[in-house]
Amino acid sequence: MRKERVGFAVCGSFCTHEAVLRALEKVTASYETVIPIVSENAAFTDTRFGTSDDLLERLEELTGHDVLCDIPSVEPIGPKKLLDVLVIAPATGNTLAKLAAGITDTTVTMAAKAHLRNGGPVVIAMASNDGLSAGAKNIGELLVRKNYYFVPFGQDDFRKKPCSLVADFQLLPETIEAALRGEQLQPILLR
Ligand SMILES: Cc1cc2nc3c(=O)[nH]c(=O)nc-3n(C[C@H](O)[C@H](O)[C@H](O)COP(=O)(O)O)c2cc1C
Repeated sequence: MRKERVGFAVCGSFCTHEAVLRALEKVTASYETVIPIVSENAAFTDTRFGTSDDLLERLEELTGHDVLCDIPSVEPIGPKKLLDVLVIAPATGNTLAKLAAGITDTTVTMAAKAHLRNGGPVVIAMASNDGLSAGAKNIGELLVRKNYYFVPFGQDDFRKKPCSLVADFQLLPETIEAALRGEQLQPILLR
């Protein structure tokens, strides 16, 4: 088992939570310490894709840790140097916009700010219907920002949702390993 401590932050792209939980299973099989984090929207919103209680339960079962779901619980990630890598999966268009703009008003953006304060790697696995429209500039901004790494992504349904981008969540473990070496997994753009 690997010793690096992983923070695993989940945002409100509810339709991708199943795929993300499958990827998380692989991460917990390889890393001893995985700390679950959720945005307020993921923590308290029930949708047609499932309930928030079920999501929180499954995150706690998979990781063996309580879910961190408010700003004060993730703030110590900075001063106490609690993580070696922070994963944001799924990362919504909303959270990407806030990270690009330096806005820190959610649990996930606070976790990122705290971890980046220590110069640690942040791995982004995006899922956003406006990735090639309103969100494109935010993705571009983060692509050139130090310490950000992207799980390779592409268009998931170019006919019905031409602006939608989604990461290949199966590549999450490989992207984390590369990020811990200070490398971006390539190719970053999928067809
Ligand atoms: C059923 C449902 C599915 C959603 N799917 C997505 C998605 O795939 N990607 C996305 O960027 N936002 C999606 N959203 C919108 C986000 O939940 C919303 O922007 C929210 O403010 C995100 O907050 P967070 O980034 O703090 O988690 C969805 C919302 C709902 C209700």
